[in-house]
Amino acid sequence: MPDDLGAARDAAERRGVGSYERHIFLCIGPDCCSTETGEAAWSRLKRRTALLNGSSDRGRIYRTKVGCLRICENGPVAVVYPEGTWYAGLDAEGLERVISEHLGEGRKVEELVIGRNPLSAPQPPAD
Ligand code: FES
Repeated sequence: MPDDLGAARDAAERRGVGSYERHIFLCIGPDCCSTETGEAAWSRLKRRTALLNGSSDRGRIYRTKVGCLRICENGPVAVVYPEGTWYAGLDAEGLERVISEHLGEGRKVEELVIGRNPLSAPQPPAD
């Protein structure tokens, strides 16, 4: 076990860990979409979440780009938590809808949903 996690804890605090309402993981390809399409989607997501958050590095929405979500079809592909809503076909128009409707207003974009997997950790037995 590392004996000092202070730098990472400081970074987590600077990033606002503990204050997020939603977290989106966006795959930028190359198997579900071209790298060019994935990078364009990532740029759009960064720009738009900064507007929703009112900041480029803090706020209620967190975004992460990933190399593969193991769907590898009809990308860009993304998943939004805490709902565990999986999306595909996120061209510029589709991604814009997910950003404004789901991330911004909490309404899923049903036409683009490919799966649902809300996460809930098992609870320890009551004492
Ligand atoms: S490369 Fe995007 S889901 Fe696999």
